[in-house]
Amino acid sequence: MTFDVRRASLADAVALPPIERSAAQLFRLDPPLAWLADAEVPDAAQHLQAIEQTYVWVAEKSDGQLTGFVRAVDINQQMHIEELSVSQAFQGKGIGRALVAAVIEQARAMRLDSVTLTTFRDLPWNAPFYQRMGFAELTLAQADRHLHEALQSEILHGFPPERRCAMRLRLI
Ligand SMILES: CC(C)(COP(=O)(O)OP(=O)(O)OC[C@H]1O[C@@H](n2cnc3c(N)ncnc32)[C@H](O)[C@@H]1OP(=O)(O)O)[C@@H](O)C(=O)NCCC(=O)NCCS
Repeated sequence: MTFDVRRASLADAVALPPIERSAAQLFRLDPPLAWLADAEVPDAAQHLQAIEQTYVWVAEKSDGQLTGFVRAVDINQQMHIEELSVSQAFQGKGIGRALVAAVIEQARAMRLDSVTLTTFRDLPWNAPFYQRMGFAELTLAQADRHLHEALQSEILHGFPPERRCAMRLRLI
């Protein structure tokens, strides 16, 4: 299967909620996190706004079908990945890695200091994957305010705090 990664256009917004819902089915593999598979996701209008105001890339198959997306925001010289999702049928084919690589490339082009994210420390498709891409887990003392806020907001949504971590890829 071949796919391209490109910046999202406004017309892509409608395709993103189903991708995020499909991606989240993977959490059923971890029963305490299975509820995430049924959690509400941002709607097309919210994606539309994000495409206008943040950095969103999509992965597109040669037939035009969108299979994944990543959304990142530029905060204090850091590119922070807010969401990364690949539809269940297309996982494990290198799309997630290519989407993260697009964020890193953009951050380098903008001469930002780092790329950051929060994730599950112990799920094989989360922290271990980012670690292989060069990200390192941060202690709470090392994490900037936006990372503390992201972790806090996830805890308020019911994420188990002991399983969450902040990670950073240094670019300078
Ligand atoms: C995370 C996610 C986007 C990765 O997308 P993907 O297209 O499957 O990613 P890739 O095929 O590029 O694989 C990425 C790495 O994860 C590993 N991986 C992917 N799926 C995996 C699985 N189900 N179990 C174990 N490892 C897995 C791959 O081996 C690969 O490692 P490598 O590139 O270092 O060899 C996808 O799993 C997903 O949508 N998950 C649900 C939502 C989520 O967890 N988002 C991330 C929030 S921080």
